[in-house]
Amino acid sequence: MTPAVPGLTFHMEMGPMSECEKRLLFSSDEIARHVERLAREISEDYQDGDVVIVGILKGVFIFLADLVRQLTIPVEIDFVRLASYGSGTTSSGTVRLTHDVELNLAGRDILIVEDIVDSGITLTFLREHLLSRRPRSLRICALVDKGERRSVKVDLDYVGLHLDKGFVVGYGLDCKECYRYLPAIYELIL
Ligand code: IMP
Ligand code: MG
Repeated sequence: MTPAVPGLTFHMEMGPMSECEKRLLFSSDEIARHVERLAREISEDYQDGDVVIVGILKGVFIFLADLVRQLTIPVEIDFVRLASYGSGTTSSGTVRLTHDVELNLAGRDILIVEDIVDSGITLTFLREHLLSRRPRSLRICALVDKGERRSVKVDLDYVGLHLDKGFVVGYGLDCKECYRYLPAIYELIL
């Protein structure tokens, strides 16, 4: 029999949903409230800015899309692709830049937007990389600040949600490329 929604049947029967147990941590309503607050703070702070938002792919794609649609200031948007995790749940310690920013950043106000900060290695690497482009300013916005494994101090200017520990998925965040599409954030019971 042809299912009404073929993809749905696939996920229910053999997809990632059945691979791991997970627990709801931040509902989509709670996330939306914090995204709205962040957009308000950023819009107020950059009234006279020349802002280029630099999103870190892939995890940031949903957060960034929601955030920028609530800003009340003009911004330009670009992306970098960084890889540090490979397929596991802990950082490999080395960061690879696999796609660089294409916009001109000299003299402009960079706002890095990241999904989640863990060790701090990824953001420290990207911060140094983008500072070499001689921007007027550089700030960082992260949806989730996960404290437990921070090994490099990194100053976060805008933070959505705080998390002590655990590995979370959904709202763009993945585990081995699964779960990104979920509308809320869940902790994986590993
Ligand atoms: P860091 O370099 O250790 O700070 O790691 C940051 C990157 O690791 C983020 O951009 C995420 O892609 C990934 N990451 C860290 N913690 C999690 C998590 O709990 N779930 C999903 N991805 C995570
Ligand atoms: Mg990731």
